[in-house]
Amino acid sequence: MIQAASSAATAIRGRLLHFTDDPALPGSSAVHYVDDGLLIINSSGLIKAAGPFQLLKSQLSSDCKVDHYPGKLIMPGFVDGHIHYPQTDIIASFGTELLTWLERYTFPAEAAFSDPVHAQEVAAFFCDLLLKNGTTTASVFTTVHAASCDAMFAAALARNMRLIAGKVLMDQNCPENLRDTAETGHDESLQLIEAWHGRGRLAYAITPRFVPTSSPAQLRLAGDLFQSRPDLYLQSHVAENKDEIAWVARLYPEARSYLEVYRDFRQLGPRAIFGHCLWLDDSDWDLLADTGTSIAFCPTSNLFLGSGLLDLNAARSRRIPISLATDVGGGTSFSMLQTMAEAYKAVRLRGQVLTAEEAFYMATLGGARALHLDDRIGSLAPGKEADLIVLDPAATTLLHRRMAQTRTLSEELFALMMLGDDRCIEATYVLGQPYRPS
Ligand code: GUN
Ligand code: ZN
Repeated sequence: MIQAASSAATAIRGRLLHFTDDPALPGSSAVHYVDDGLLIINSSGLIKAAGPFQLLKSQLSSDCKVDHYPGKLIMPGFVDGHIHYPQTDIIASFGTELLTWLERYTFPAEAAFSDPVHAQEVAAFFCDLLLKNGTTTASVFTTVHAASCDAMFAAALARNMRLIAGKVLMDQNCPENLRDTAETGHDESLQLIEAWHGRGRLAYAITPRFVPTSSPAQLRLAGDLFQSRPDLYLQSHVAENKDEIAWVARLYPEARSYLEVYRDFRQLGPRAIFGHCLWLDDSDWDLLADTGTSIAFCPTSNLFLGSGLLDLNAARSRRIPISLATDVGGGTSFSMLQTMAEAYKAVRLRGQVLTAEEAFYMATLGGARALHLDDRIGSLAPGKEADLIVLDPAATTLLHRRMAQTRTLSEELFALMMLGDDRCIEATYVLGQPYRPS
């Protein structure tokens, strides 16, 4: 369990690092680093100022508490663009591809969320684990049970987190005990939106699981709701696995592609977030770009389930917003550092490149942009919410030894993302308040 501190931090001193743009863009001066920096937080938990300690120290009042982290990196909290909290307990279940894995492990685990007490216990554990890993914002799938979504939002609200979540819609091709109907799914989504959307720092995502598990009637209602409410998100999965794609082709023989089924049900657009996107063609990539739809890159899951390798350059060249995502429990780690490491390897297997700066950008401001939250989070700019992490680049004996060999910030960040994990997260601040593992 992670304990909330009793008083707000008002200033943090350390090595400040954040991005103001995508470092992959040509001529970009997106990387901002201050070796001895100061970050001042106002009483609402917003960043008041960030810059060199020597320049800003005169702004500190005499009674101001300064949390000083010599040698540590202060960054915006990580953003996880796609994760399933009900799969926490089945993470790392042996050896199957997507559709078998769903049947064998995922659906039975999700059925247990008909019990709200179980949902509350897992939701609390999940939020604490996110924070322990430095993830301060996530876009979360719950289960078909409305109460599982209540539990997720309640746990996030109790911790003041900025979080997106939604009740999974599925009314066919899944176990009986996990089915809603087109109408009940729609009505329960509306009730959850009413109860939670805009409360604290919470937002609702309409969440059709994927095409095979929703009837055309359910997909139509979900798309209509999404189009009628530009303040809501929509999250789903697309083109993850070859058998899944063949299944969708059998269900919609007239459709040119899997992605176009979502288009036909009006589910693409800004604030729509599609996980995986592994088996798209040029026309699909253009469709994502033209509609302003964002994607979630889920490297540990794509590798673990043997699903495939993302064509990152296809997304980058079209400026499609990309979040990095753990996709637990298809994904194998809650750590965004480990997820960056696997992203690097998966990208290399496609003959492409991901620098450390690009990976850290994707896990912070890039993810915030993909979730349309970059006006609130994702960087250390004044006015942003002070969701912050303190990273110890030498947290383990191996990292300590490796860091002695690094000469530049780039080298340090690369070693950190390749070798780091939750042990590197020395502290996490949520809206200016420190959370620390007990
Ligand atoms: N496609 C449909 N449901 C799921 C899920 O729970 N995890 C993953 N990785 N893919 C899915
Ligand atoms: Zn997923």
